[in-house]
Amino acid sequence: MGLTDLETRTQVGIIGAGPAGLVLAHLLRARGIDCVVLERQTRSHVEARIRAGVLEHGTVDLLTSLGLGDRLHRERMVHHGIELLFEREAHRIPLTELAGREITIYGQHEVVKDLIAAWDGPLHFSVSSVALSALTSTPTVSYVDADGVAQTLHCDVIAGCDGFHGVSRAAIPPGVLTVHQRDYPHAWLGILAEAPPSSEELIYAHSSRGFALHSMRSPTVTRLYLQVRPDEDLAEWPDERIWSELRARLDRSDPAWSLADGPILERSVAAMRSFVVSPMQYGRLFLAGDAAHIVPPTGAKGLNLAVADVKVLADALTAWYASGDATGLDAYSEACLRRVWRVQHFSWWMTSMLHPTSDNDPFDRALQLSQLRYVTSSRAAATSLAENYVGFPFP
Ligand code: PHB
Repeated sequence: MGLTDLETRTQVGIIGAGPAGLVLAHLLRARGIDCVVLERQTRSHVEARIRAGVLEHGTVDLLTSLGLGDRLHRERMVHHGIELLFEREAHRIPLTELAGREITIYGQHEVVKDLIAAWDGPLHFSVSSVALSALTSTPTVSYVDADGVAQTLHCDVIAGCDGFHGVSRAAIPPGVLTVHQRDYPHAWLGILAEAPPSSEELIYAHSSRGFALHSMRSPTVTRLYLQVRPDEDLAEWPDERIWSELRARLDRSDPAWSLADGPILERSVAAMRSFVVSPMQYGRLFLAGDAAHIVPPTGAKGLNLAVADVKVLADALTAWYASGDATGLDAYSEACLRRVWRVQHFSWWMTSMLHPTSDNDPFDRALQLSQLRYVTSSRAAATSLAENYVGFPFP
């Protein structure tokens, strides 16, 4: 039976046009595999979604190898260290010296813009009513396109890259997935400000008032975060309160240091959670990125983990299409989960070390300070932090 006008066939149906879905699309195209990308949001929405901004060396290399590195290499900020600030003293962790790789500061939404600009294949925004079926036989995606027309996409394989709240994971029958989850009793209030960075490197600050992070996007734009309660109401945070709290938490004994401020361009509160599903596959549906796992932002790993997933998936699909060899596809979940759990541990560890508990329990606080003193005075401990922070080589 032939396809009607409203039916399409492709090799890989990709749900979601975030970093996972778009990098996968580019990887597949480079290997001659067809795909169609479906996205619930508009293009301007996904291009404006402010997220973290630290890229591992492996992520930069992969984007560069796909011909996506031009603007990235022009505009990125290369960092060779981070600072840990506690008891009003800053301690530098020399990442490149200890772990042999640098990190790149470049906003996730800039990566997304580059990925979309360089994509000339099928990518449909503003689709609705996305539903996945026949996942163990002949996978099909039905959806309503931006013009309100019902469409059907037949695929060999579906890649679920539609984030934590997406439909892909929810399409897997109950009982298949094991969920591992930890919620934290804090969230991050993040701002983007038109203010020059106050330090050349990122500052992770532990203070009795709560955690704060100083990051940046360019020589004129800073990104700053404050630990707040998970139910925090942004309305209770007028600009002046945000700046005075940042100044208090980032304060240091060095009298020459001060925090530059400026107009706040964007603000939001994000919950912190650790979440993993296992396996990351059901039949011919493969989950990648936030659809399968969430890490707290303290290790800046979310995007990097998503890119690592789709690299594994693209390699496995390439072998399968080339020779029918399904070994890589069968091992997809296990291969990804090894990295996922390493990153989960690192992100949980950074989070636990840097965030005072809500009751400022003296025992917890003493453990945190002891750990901070250890990682900033022992080369072995600092090296462990550094190699996790810069990221392990890509699969
Ligand atoms: C950011 O620049 O947005 C950022 C940096 C480091 C983190 C999290 C977020 O750990």
